Amino acid sequence: MDLGLAGWRVLVTGATSGIGYAIAEELIAEGARVACVGYRPDSQAPAGAEALLRADLSDPDQQQGVVDDAVTALGGLDALISNAGQGIDGTVENADERLWRWGMELDLHSGVRIARAALPHLRERTGRILFVTALSASEPRENHIVSNAAKAGTEAVAKSLSREVGPEGILVNCIAPGRVKSNQTKKRFADDAARDAYAAANIPLQRFGEASELAPFAALLISPRNGYVTGQRLVVDGGMSKAL
Ligand SMILES: NC(=O)c1ccc[n+]([C@@H]2O[C@H](COP(=O)([O-])OP(=O)(O)OC[C@H]3O[C@@H](n4cnc5c(N)ncnc54)[C@H](OP(=O)(O)O)[C@@H]3O)[C@@H](O)[C@H]2O)c1
Repeated sequence: MDLGLAGWRVLVTGATSGIGYAIAEELIAEGARVACVGYRPDSQAPAGAEALLRADLSDPDQQQGVVDDAVTALGGLDALISNAGQGIDGTVENADERLWRWGMELDLHSGVRIARAALPHLRERTGRILFVTALSASEPRENHIVSNAAKAGTEAVAKSLSREVGPEGILVNCIAPGRVKSNQTKKRFADDAARDAYAAANIPLQRFGEASELAPFAALLISPRNGYVTGQRLVVDGGMSKAL
C-alpha cells in the first residue's frame, strides 16, 4: 500500500534508538523527509534522515528549539511524532520530587510543548500528530508511577487536542507499545533468557515485539491514507493488554 508519504516533512523525537529509530526508518523508506531528534552525543539517526538534532527534552528551554530547527531543515512540517522518553522506576512513596519533575518534563510536558510549537506549521497542510505512549497508560505497571502518570497524561492531552484541532482537519493519535525490544527494555532484564521468561508468562504471543513491527502502524496513522481516525490509541502489545 502506498501511504502517500513521499515528500512529507516529519519531525520524530527519540529517533536515534529503538521505536523512534524504526519509525524514522520506515518513514524514510516511504519517501518522507525526516528530521530526527536524539539526546546522547554519539547516537545516530537512520540513513537518509535530513537532519539530526540534539536536545535534552527534559529541559523546557530546549523543547521549542527542536521544532524551529526541524522547520528550518525541512522547510516546514507536515507531521510530528513525539516519542522521546525513558522508562522511569519508582513508587508513589519513593519517587522523589526531582524524579517527578524530570520525568514529567521529559515524558509529558515536552510532548505538549513540541505539539504546541508544531501546530502553526501543521496548519499550513492538514497535519498529523502521533504520541508514542504505553500500555501502562491504561494498565499501570508496578514500580513505574512517574511513567504511568506521564503516559496517561499524554493520552488525555492527545484526546483533548484531537477535539480542539479536528475542525481544522488535523489528526491526533497515540500508539501504545506493550513490550518492545529497545535500549530501554534491555536495561530491565539480566539477559535474553530472563526477558523471554517474562514474555512467556505475560504476553500471549510469547515474545517482545520488534520496533519494526510497530513502525508501519505509526506511519499509517500519520499518513494521508488515514483520513478519519483521530483521538484514538492503537495498542501494539502482542495481546498483553487484559482490558476489553
Ligand atoms: N520499548 C518498550 O517496550 C516501550 C513500552 C512502552 C512505551 N515505550 C515508549 O516508547 C518510547 C521510545 O522508547 P524505546 O523503548 O524505543 O527506548 P530507547 O531505545 O531507549 O529510545 C529512547 C529515545 O529517546 C531519546 N531520549 C531519551 N532521553 C532523552 C532526553 N532527555 N531528551 C531527548 N531525547 C531523549 C533517546 O535518545 P538517545 O538515543 O540519543 O539516547 C532515544 O532516541 C518512549 O517514550 C517509551 O516510554 C516503550
